[in-house]
Parts: sequence; C-alpha cells; structure tokens
Amino acid sequence: MAKLFINNESRKSTIAPEIYGHFSEHLGRCIYEGLYVGENSDIPNTNGMRNDVVSALKEMKIPVLRWPGGCFADEYHWMDGIGPKAGRKKMINTHWGGVVEDNSFGTHEFFELCSQLGCKTYVNMNVGSGSVREMSEWVEYITFKGVSPMADLRKENGREEPWTVDYVGVGNENWGCGGNMRPVYYADEYRRYQTYIRNYAGNTPIQKICCGANAGDYDWTRKVLETCFDHSDPKQHGYMDGYSLHYYTIPEGNWEHKGSATDFTEETFYKTLKAGYHMEELVTRHSHIMDEFDPEKKIGLMVDEWGIWTDVEPGTNPGFLYQQSTMRDALLAGMTLNIFNKHSDRVRMANIAQLINVLQSVILTEGEKMIKTPTYFVFRMYAAHQGGTLLSSELLESGTVGKDQNELPKVFESVSENSDGVITITLTNNSLESGEEVSVNLSKDGGAYSVCEASVITNKMNAHNTFDAPGTVKEEKFTGCEKTSDGVRITLPKCSVVCVRLKK
Ligand code: AHR
Repeated sequence: MAKLFINNESRKSTIAPEIYGHFSEHLGRCIYEGLYVGENSDIPNTNGMRNDVVSALKEMKIPVLRWPGGCFADEYHWMDGIGPKAGRKKMINTHWGGVVEDNSFGTHEFFELCSQLGCKTYVNMNVGSGSVREMSEWVEYITFKGVSPMADLRKENGREEPWTVDYVGVGNENWGCGGNMRPVYYADEYRRYQTYIRNYAGNTPIQKICCGANAGDYDWTRKVLETCFDHSDPKQHGYMDGYSLHYYTIPEGNWEHKGSATDFTEETFYKTLKAGYHMEELVTRHSHIMDEFDPEKKIGLMVDEWGIWTDVEPGTNPGFLYQQSTMRDALLAGMTLNIFNKHSDRVRMANIAQLINVLQSVILTEGEKMIKTPTYFVFRMYAAHQGGTLLSSELLESGTVGKDQNELPKVFESVSENSDGVITITLTNNSLESGEEVSVNLSKDGGAYSVCEASVITNKMNAHNTFDAPGTVKEEKFTGCEKTSDGVRITLPKCSVVCVRLKK
C-alpha cells in the first residue's frame, strides 16, 4: 500500500490558473473548422465561433489562450487580418501544409473568442520576419484607448474600446522556426523588441514573455538570461515577466517515426510516459538556472507548448498534425499537470498543444460533430486546482512501473487547498497491471475531513472517443474511497486518473 502524507499546515505556492492554459495556432483545423466557422455557417455559432466548442471549453474553465502560433506567429503580419474580410490578404501557410490562409480570423476575432470564453489573452508576436514597428503598432492597436493612428484604425474597423492583452510573446522558437537565431543574438533582439511594447496609462500591465529553450537546451537559458535578464524596472531593456520552455513527448523518440496515436504496445506506453516524465527534470533544471538570475522568482517559467506528438491519423494531411487522443494521453496530461502544480513556485503558465484537432487536443471536430478527448476530462477534473494553494505532500512506497530505461514512478500526485478549505488530491496510476491502494494521512485534523467529491477517468491504455462512440472514455463518479481516522484510503484502478476532494 502506498502512503500519501499531506502537510496541511504547510501551504506553498499559489497554483496559477494559467497552468491549465491552451494554445491555438493557424495550423490544420485548429482555428478554421475547430473554433471558427464564420457567421454564415450552418454550424451553430455566435459571431462565427462554434457554440458547442465554446461551451465545452468554458465548462473546462479554460483560463488563457495563446495565439496565433507557434511557427505561424513569426510569419504572421497582423495587418493582413483586420478590416473587411473580403479585402484581407491571402497568404500561404508555409509551415503547415502550404494551404491558403485567408486571414478571416484575425485580431478582432481572437479577442471576440476570448471574450466568449471568458479567458485571458496571450498574443505571440512576430520577431522572426516582423519588425519592432509592427509589434509596437499591434500593441497600440489592441490596447490604446485615446487618439492615435492605430487606435483610430481599430475604431474604423468597428471596435471603439481597446481590449486587454494579458501576455505578449516576443517571438516563438527563435532558436528554430522563428529565425534560427543564436541565444545572444535573440537576447539582444528581445531587449530591443520589448522596449517598444508599451503599457499605456490606465491599462493592465502586459506580461512580456521571452522565448526560452527547446527542451534540454540549458545553454540557451543561461546565455539568454545572461544577456537580457533584468527585472528591476519595467522600463529596463531586459525586462521580462516570463521565460518560455517547449517540450513535446514523442512516443518512439524519433521525429521521423513518432509512433501511432492509438495503435501501440505496452512497452511503447511506458516509453511514452517515461518521456513525458522528463518534464520534471526539464522544469527543475531550467528553474535552477533561473534561480541564479532571479532568486526571488519574479519571472515565471511558461511552458507554453507541451504534450504528446504522434504520427498523424492515417489518410490525413501530414501538415495538419491531426492525431487521436487516448487514455495514454490522459495519464500523460494528469502526470504533467501534477508536476506543474508541484513546481508552481516557478511555473506560472503552461499551454498544452493544441486546443482542437492538432496534437494533444481536448476537442476533435468533424463537420458539425464534436467530441471531447480523454485529455479534456483531465483538464476539467483538475480545474479544481486552479488558483488553489499547493500543499506539501509526499508519496511513499508506491513503487515503479515500466522496465529498464522506461522505468518511472507508478503514482503521481499533487494536492491543493482552495479558499473554502477544500483539499483537492489528484493522482495518476500509470500501471497497466495493477491498481494501488493509497492511504492518505493529513497532518492536521485528518479525522475531521470527509470526501465531498470524487471522480475517475479509466479505461484500456489505447481507449479513445470517436465520432461514432463519443462516450468511451469519460469522467465518472469515483467510489473507491474509504474514510480513515486520519484521512482517507483511496483505491486507484489500474491505468487511471483520479480526483478526490476533502472537506471538513
Ligand atoms: O505545435 C506545433 C509546432 O511545434 C509549433 O508551431 C512550434 O512552435 C513547435 O515546434
């Protein structure tokens, strides 16, 4: 039996709701079809946004949405996406399938979407092929209230009031698709570009995000921070609020043959989870370097792209990155979110890639049909952690799963307490072979707590929802809890994600 000790007198960092953030790129059927179908579509919509999708995302409590890329961001020229739609420029989406991008979803549409979702906004701007002026004017267009060329243009385009942009990304993957820059060069560019991201009087200050490393490229982190880190004053050249990290889990560990989303062996299952578990090391090591420059943890590590990346579904456009999502993905999501919660002193935002119809999506669509993936249910279940306070917790004697280089802990957990004193425990059991009993002990008043809510997501490792069978994997009521004198005993089914909430 595993033992979970929760010190409910040791309150740690706040779990930023934005750790449960999402990412939407002009890629495949994410924006077009997935989110936006246009006002004249037969699919029920509000100002062009699919009603079914918006309502599912609100139910999941989406806290923030990143847009327009990804690699697309460093090729995007925002002025092409404003004004009457018939006159908007058409461009080639060179990164993603070479298809025509008609720019019918642009700045106004993004802010309309986020207002329908009630979520924060994260606009990733163009450094790779853009200019300082273009970035600065975009910020002016979005946020300036008074009289100015860009504010006037926004008003001419039908929007009187400015919007709030909560986060601005200064380029995306500038070590790769965003310009193939070297760290010191990018860092100097960051200093220049961020200078002109103005916080106009009376506005909520924009949080500026510097482009961070590709996975384990610690040299990038060190050199970028050495060159441009400065948090002393927002007017300083190197001011930043966040520093990003991108890491994808590739099941077979090989970009040429990533592995199928649904058809895989038990060995590949464990290999995938082990690769996902690498996130713990990445977050720890990048955080240590950040600590050297920023011991007070003023800037956040923003893991603004993560998730599983498999081969595309057979017969679909390879440039569209459309993949199914199984129970394996649910475990990966549950484990990773537990890792982020436990590092919430430094991790202040994370954006799974990508929202709809691309990579590890929470929703898939086919014409007017929509399904929720296993990953969707994990995000909905874990929403109880959003804004909570991390409690100190330690899991003992739960053992490991997987063999040799694929060995990893069997159970992952994180625990938080909300402002009403409700304690949320989320756990994943990564084993395909056995369940696990977890005896939960609370340091204070354990006997006074009882279970007020509990749910589970469990199924075979490759179970997934389809348009014909949309309810195969879902979140269900969980009955495997038993009250004890100092807490609760939880019996985790094999291959499961479980949430148990305790109240006095
Ligand atoms: O999410 C798909 C792509 O992965 C993004 O466009 C890019 O930033 C990353 O390499």
